[in-house]
Parts: sequence; structure tokens; C-alpha cells
Amino acid sequence: ALITILNGPNLNLLGQREPEKYGATTLADIEAACFAQAQSQGHQIEFLQSNYEGQIIDWIHAAREKSQGIVINPAAFTHTSVAILDALYTFDGPVLEVHITNVHQREEFRHHSFVSKRATGVIAGFGASGYRLAVQHMAELLD
Ligand code: DQA
Repeated sequence: ALITILNGPNLNLLGQREPEKYGATTLADIEAACFAQAQSQGHQIEFLQSNYEGQIIDWIHAAREKSQGIVINPAAFTHTSVAILDALYTFDGPVLEVHITNVHQREEFRHHSFVSKRATGVIAGFGASGYRLAVQHMAELLD
């Protein structure tokens, strides 16, 4: 099956961005790890990042036609976007929400997630490995 992996704003700067919080791993490293994990379980991925809310919404709509599951790190849109939540409600398959950091340990405004209302499961605080773990679980859900 095809798993769509979506990344929100500022995640293109992983590796350079606040490395004490987000680590040295780049988004390209994460994509490679997700690709290898999915391949080892006989699944495919597409891996996308945008700094624009509307682009992420368009990609969720596109996933309705071609993907069986969505793994999403909505980044700051997690805490603000009813529109991304509503787009995810139009998608039929499992949705796994990933955060590199433990958002519950951070500022109050990061404790609430709109996306969690729709998420099948949430991974937070596992660092970049959270993506690989989410892909592993998604692949099992889709088997
Ligand atoms: C994040 C946590 C968000 O609060 C933050 O805005 C991000 C990244 C994470 O992966 O830990 O950009 O989603």
C-alpha cells in the first residue's frame, strides 16, 4: 500500500533548526529511514513537506485517491489548524500523528493538538525515530 507522509512548516530546516530540541537528523535522513522501513514491510511511501497550510490540505485531498494511510507531523499547524483537522476527516484510512519532541513537556500552547481529534495514534518525544516507528505501525495496520 501507499503511505503518505506529510510534514508541516519549518521541518525543511531539521538538522539546522534548534538542534538541542530537534536533533541533528535532517528531513532527508528521515525520508530515507521511512523509505527503508516501508520497503522492508512491502509498502511504499511518498514523503512531502510544505510551509503552507493550503498545500498540506491539497496533499490530504490527493491522498484520498491514492493512499491507504497518512503519517503527519503538522508542526506548528498541530496547534492552530482546524482546516487540516477537517481535511483529515475526509480521509478514510488510519492517520498517525508524529512529533519529534515531547510536546507535553513544552510550552502550554503546544499541549493541545487539533489533529489528535482525528489521529488513530500519536507519537511524541521519540526524536526522529518516531517517524520510522509510525511507518512500521502503519504498515502493520495496512497488512
Ligand atoms: C513539532 C512540535 C511543534 O510544537 C512545533 O511547532 C514543530 C515541531 C515536533 O515535531 O516536535 O514545529 O511538531
